[in-house]
Amino acid sequence: MIKQHSSTLVNEMTLDEKIAQLIQLATHFYKGATEEGQITGPIEEMGITGDTVQNSGSVLGASGAKTTKSIQKAHLNDNRLGIPLLFMSDIIHGYKTIFPVPLAMGCSWDLELAEKSAEIAAKEAAVSGVHVTFSPMVDLTRDPRWGRVMESTGEDPFLNSEFAKALVRGYQGEDYTKDNDRVAACVKHFAAYGAPEGGRDYNTVDMSERQLREYYLPAYKAALDEGCAMVMTAFNILDGVPATGNKRLMRDLLREEWGFDGVVISDWGAVKELIHHGYAEDEKDAAQKGLKAGVDIEMMTPCYVHHLKTLVEEGSISESLIDEAVLRILELKEKLGLFENPYRAADEEREKEIVFSESHRKAARELAAKSSVLLKNEGVLPLDREQKVALIGPFAEHDDLLGPWSWIGSREDAVKVREGFESKIDSRQLSSAKGSDISAVTSSQINEARRSAENADVIVLALGEESDMSGEAGSRADIRLPEAQLKLVEEMSKLNKPMVAVLFNGRPLDLHGVVDKVDAVLEAWFPGSEAGSAVADLLYGDANPSGRLTMSFPYSVGQVPVYYNRYNTGRPQKKGVQERFVSQYLDIPNEPLFPFGFGLSYTTFSYSDVTLSSSVIKPEQPLHLTVNVTNTGEVAGDEVVQLYVRDITGEVVRPLRELKGFKKIWLEPGETKEVAFTLTEEQLRYYHSDLSHESDAGKFNLYIGANSRDAAEYAFELIK
Ligand code: BGC
Repeated sequence: MIKQHSSTLVNEMTLDEKIAQLIQLATHFYKGATEEGQITGPIEEMGITGDTVQNSGSVLGASGAKTTKSIQKAHLNDNRLGIPLLFMSDIIHGYKTIFPVPLAMGCSWDLELAEKSAEIAAKEAAVSGVHVTFSPMVDLTRDPRWGRVMESTGEDPFLNSEFAKALVRGYQGEDYTKDNDRVAACVKHFAAYGAPEGGRDYNTVDMSERQLREYYLPAYKAALDEGCAMVMTAFNILDGVPATGNKRLMRDLLREEWGFDGVVISDWGAVKELIHHGYAEDEKDAAQKGLKAGVDIEMMTPCYVHHLKTLVEEGSISESLIDEAVLRILELKEKLGLFENPYRAADEEREKEIVFSESHRKAARELAAKSSVLLKNEGVLPLDREQKVALIGPFAEHDDLLGPWSWIGSREDAVKVREGFESKIDSRQLSSAKGSDISAVTSSQINEARRSAENADVIVLALGEESDMSGEAGSRADIRLPEAQLKLVEEMSKLNKPMVAVLFNGRPLDLHGVVDKVDAVLEAWFPGSEAGSAVADLLYGDANPSGRLTMSFPYSVGQVPVYYNRYNTGRPQKKGVQERFVSQYLDIPNEPLFPFGFGLSYTTFSYSDVTLSSSVIKPEQPLHLTVNVTNTGEVAGDEVVQLYVRDITGEVVRPLRELKGFKKIWLEPGETKEVAFTLTEEQLRYYHSDLSHESDAGKFNLYIGANSRDAAEYAFELIK
């Protein structure tokens, strides 16, 4: 049905009209984007004509029911065949109601809440006229120097895949073609953008095919298996070929092997960047290589509109390649119902009710509390409401709490940390001072902070990175807090008062100079619109910290990349033994400061009575495992029970630990719950040296516990 209408249309289109469908332009290129109705986008500068804009296929970054409707209306007035525009935007962790950044969301290990956050984001975006979100970003990340780690859920392929599915479900619902409160999702950045050399954004990626398939590809595949409508290419080179000109990735793997038939869009300018990479001679060559490799939509550069026509006329590319790309785009428009209703869910009245509603903010507060990770607590948290608190630091009253990729969210609406405290204690018990700027400090700021803390029972330091210090193009070589804030911590520690550090940042940090100086550390990441409320809930024990790290916190940047699912060496370090010729640093430990899966709670949990249904797994006989987990403390809380395996006799070397399952459970004080896992032969498969995906008979270890480091070891055998 859909194919028919779209293909009829393709047949009616001129070559110019078809090619114009393949460009995506930003909002200011369109009539109707401003009150005056004039195009402000630099069409001359880009060397395109009004005709191209008039026939273009999609808009990047427009939002708001009024704007999207007026652009669509003006467009349809001018468009010969009445082909509506697709509106695509980066709705990454919320539209106006901003949820914690994805890395934080990952740390919640809460798939239901993550799905809910995407559902809310979709609903707010849809009512404002957005049709497609450029999310989820599922690039596996091992290097905290890379600023975009905040957009991913971390370093584990299994966990990332689970989140990829949850987010796609949240955005698209059961069926986005029938449900106008949902949007289509676009998984990105295909592929392996998360492994740039040196952690420098846009940099080269080079890895073995086994590494790619085992770690980097699964989450993209998981998103597509969940029905994700679109794929965005990556900026990086992969094994010498830019991802955006990579036929092997897009045609052979994505389309042939995985059967993906949706739209592929380049990342911003990435087709033209083929020239900078040294992969294409000029724009024309870039257009040819991009299209042949499988990019349907060129985002924000004009190589296609300038050159595809000539390339067809010369016979260098076949028009059928263009037809296929156009057909896919029209089909997506048709699936979204745009031919019947080009405005889809855009509705100014409903927008007022839905966007940033009370219930959405409540969900954001809950997820923010679940995403924070308590890294250290030596008897100081939760705070007592009787205590006098000095709230010190650049984030005490700062509104930079939403994090990167939250362009619709307004900072003014974010609950500040100080406001969170004011909702818990009488303002007479609270003093606050900035203490330092993010990256600079003066002695008068320090003096003021000292004065402010003089009468306090406890000092709460609100510290962190400005949001621009992570996100796209936000790589850092030194991943400590800025010197100015370390100085503030040092100075405040001289007061010898109990100190709590609350951190707002977009990457795992080297926490030396903080963790050793304070009694408690709460990693709050960028918590979003409800930041201050969620942080105060946690600090006062109205919520119990339950986040667990999904990216290791390095001991120092010199260890990077450091990740839990690493291989052993032939010369591993022995615990407690000092010797020379082993794999180690002479000056720092091998272990990260805080490992994957780690996070504290205000209560304690004990694990007991682990039972394995058998010591053997067979293809037809999975292993059933149960463990009793008891809340041995005084308050209720969540525990994330984690299951890992190690394949000891693989055909190739296998990681020391691989996450195979997890369960987040809520336990009242004194309560015990039995937690059950099933482990199948299929879960033990991996990529062999010949790239076959299978399991090997032999011995395995199994670990069950609270994180990737502290887990009890058991053994089983796989018999095939
Ligand atoms: C980013 C993408 C984003 C796109 C559109 C690019 O710079 O890499 O993640 O979706 O811009 O805004």
